[in-house]
Amino acid sequence: MATLRDGTVHDLPGVYRVCRLTGLAGQDASAVTTDPDLLGHVWAGHYLLAPGAIALVVQDEQGVAGYCLAAPDTATHEAWVEERWLPPLRARHPRGTGTGLDATLVEHLHDPPRTDLTLLADHPAHLHIDLLPRLQGRGWGRRLLEDMTARLAAAGASGVHLGVDHTNTGAVAFYERLGFTELRQVPGTHLLGRRLT
Ligand SMILES: CC(C)(COP(=O)(O)OP(=O)(O)OC[C@H]1O[C@@H](n2cnc3c(N)ncnc32)[C@H](O)[C@@H]1OP(=O)(O)O)[C@@H](O)C(=O)NCCC(=O)NCCS
Repeated sequence: MATLRDGTVHDLPGVYRVCRLTGLAGQDASAVTTDPDLLGHVWAGHYLLAPGAIALVVQDEQGVAGYCLAAPDTATHEAWVEERWLPPLRARHPRGTGTGLDATLVEHLHDPPRTDLTLLADHPAHLHIDLLPRLQGRGWGRRLLEDMTARLAAAGASGVHLGVDHTNTGAVAFYERLGFTELRQVPGTHLLGRRLT
């Protein structure tokens, strides 16, 4: 039986695994990454350590099978990631190393895009949701999103945004069903948002 609970630092291996297995526009990225941890370093691990970040995980008898990771204040979170999370990773993964997706992820470690401040005025929070196939289509995405949006609102966030790869049509349909709308056009990405107050 699967259960939803707060994530802790001890969930890092499970969260990294889910991140890799859903990291290619919602599909398994294992075959296109050599370093199994780079996707987790870029997209997931910091939410389990950064002050103020919120991590929810769904666990079943096989381990962590899904998560929702979020920050109520994206600008503060990005500043913490820059100051505390990235320096040791940059030392371990020098600029220009890796091939294919790994190279893109290493580039991301060195030059992470900062979220546009005009977007943050109305949608200061952001989140990520990923579920392994065995949990998909059973209402866990809705449960995670509703629990997380309530927590973000309680933390004072007036709105939440997220990016979805433009090829991930199933995820876009899911978010639209849950009340998200397109905020602006970004090449290759649907930038979606929902007001929380
Ligand atoms: C996208 C994802 C989070 C959705 O979670 P889920 O648990 O599968 O979705 P749920 O079962 O909670 O569905 C919630 C609602 O969204 C709808 N929905 C979910 N997936 C859908 C799809 N592919 N197409 C249309 N509607 C969809 C459901 O019909 C449901 O509607 P209802 O509650 O009104 O009946 C999950 O499938 C997933 O993690 N996919 C792989 C990783 C991924 O793509 N993550 C998003 C990256 S931005």
